[in-house]
Amino acid sequence: MSQITQARVVTALTGDYQDYQTNVLGTLDYLVEKYGDDYDFINIPFPNGENRYLILNAEYTEEVLQTKQKSFVKGAAFNFFKPLLGEGLLTSEGEKHKRDRRIIQPSFHMRSLSGYADTMVLNALNLTKQWEEGDLQQTDVSKDMMKLTLNIITETMFGTNIDQGKIEEVDEAFTTFSKVISSAYRGITDMALFKQQVANSIQKLQSAVAPIITERRGLETQEMDDLLAALFRAKDEESGARMTDEEIYEHVMTFFLAGHETTSNALSWTWYLLSQNPHVEEKFHQEIDTVLGNRTPVLEDFGKLTYTKAIIQESMRVFPPAYQTARQAFEDVEIGGYNFKEGDTFLASQYVVHRSKRYFEEPLMFDPERFENGTLKGIPKFSYFPFGGGSRVCIGNHFAMLEAVLVLATLGQQYKLQTINEVKPEPMITLKPKTLNMKLIKRI
Ligand code: HEM
Repeated sequence: MSQITQARVVTALTGDYQDYQTNVLGTLDYLVEKYGDDYDFINIPFPNGENRYLILNAEYTEEVLQTKQKSFVKGAAFNFFKPLLGEGLLTSEGEKHKRDRRIIQPSFHMRSLSGYADTMVLNALNLTKQWEEGDLQQTDVSKDMMKLTLNIITETMFGTNIDQGKIEEVDEAFTTFSKVISSAYRGITDMALFKQQVANSIQKLQSAVAPIITERRGLETQEMDDLLAALFRAKDEESGARMTDEEIYEHVMTFFLAGHETTSNALSWTWYLLSQNPHVEEKFHQEIDTVLGNRTPVLEDFGKLTYTKAIIQESMRVFPPAYQTARQAFEDVEIGGYNFKEGDTFLASQYVVHRSKRYFEEPLMFDPERFENGTLKGIPKFSYFPFGGGSRVCIGNHFAMLEAVLVLATLGQQYKLQTINEVKPEPMITLKPKTLNMKLIKRI
């Protein structure tokens, strides 16, 4: 196990990273291969000469994301989202972030989420019905998972008694928004057109979502148990303040954006990895058959499906849905004896650290038992950080784990999925499989 005392920093040669924009993962793999054994930070300068440091080890990832977090902001990388998310949790900084996080956090404690388990399972069951009624032999699983997780976040946000047409309107507006952002991510060729498309889809989202918030403001929310009601009820214990409609709108948008694509990718990669590792798949089937038999999963099963949970954890190690996150130093900061400058940018990369030989034996092997048999005890905390860390750690981490485990178990009870096409990772804002066509094989 590595014992780091002095940070080792190298500046990459231009030839090392010239394909960075078009081939992110290939470039990361190449840089790690070339410099990984001897260095802890690789400086991949921006075209304007500013420094951007890729962090190669868990200890310094912890310093940036947690121990020295006060010296960092999220910085320019997140400005991309501001037109839609305003000052929601993902994009706000400083006191505003601290206050909102304090108010919202209780709504994401495990006990507050228990009411959402049924929604998660019912939506998964609906998908199996669609597969069955359509008599489908095969399907694009990454599209199905995206739709499923979007339905789940919409229903947990607004409840099920909201008009189904409205739910579809919101889902459609979000799908369009994600498509526009994703294609822009590949390289913006026409900035004016991009801005226009973003503005159009934000406008659609606004006209679908804002009226729901205004209508609900007038209603008694005590008896409602969806996320929107929780936002209305949330109160700052220190000041007694509640949130305005505009603030609620920004949080709702944030939960939509942060809360479905990541979980969808985690599920898609898991189906893929299961199909490639029959011994793991078999053990998965044994667990769900033993714990559930033929009955539908319920909240209480979450704690019993320990191998299923380990499968999701291991899947997010190999293919982390959030594969890198940026921070910018807003003051000079010392890390491992090295003096970094105000304005320096850092990339904390789940993709790089989760696949590092420093922490994991045979890192590319899919082996969920790592998370069961204690072999990960003793490795540094930030060698595995799919949900980030520090004060900006994912607020939806319990939500996501509950959802992923219940969905995997519900679908896995009825279907076994077999990969048909060659699967390639597509690193956009999140890491998704490019296309994931799978054969649907009925189990029961
Ligand atoms: C497998 C699923 C998920 C993964 C891998 C994931 C990953 C992450 C990561 C890495 C961050 C930190 C980003 C940073 O530090 O720059 C984050 C933040 C966040 N996530 Fe998640 N997330 C998932 C699911 C969810 C869900 C289901 C929700 C909401 C329902 C959610 C809401 C958020 C929010 C609001 C933040 C910002 C938190 C803050 O800065 O205070 N996420 N997520």
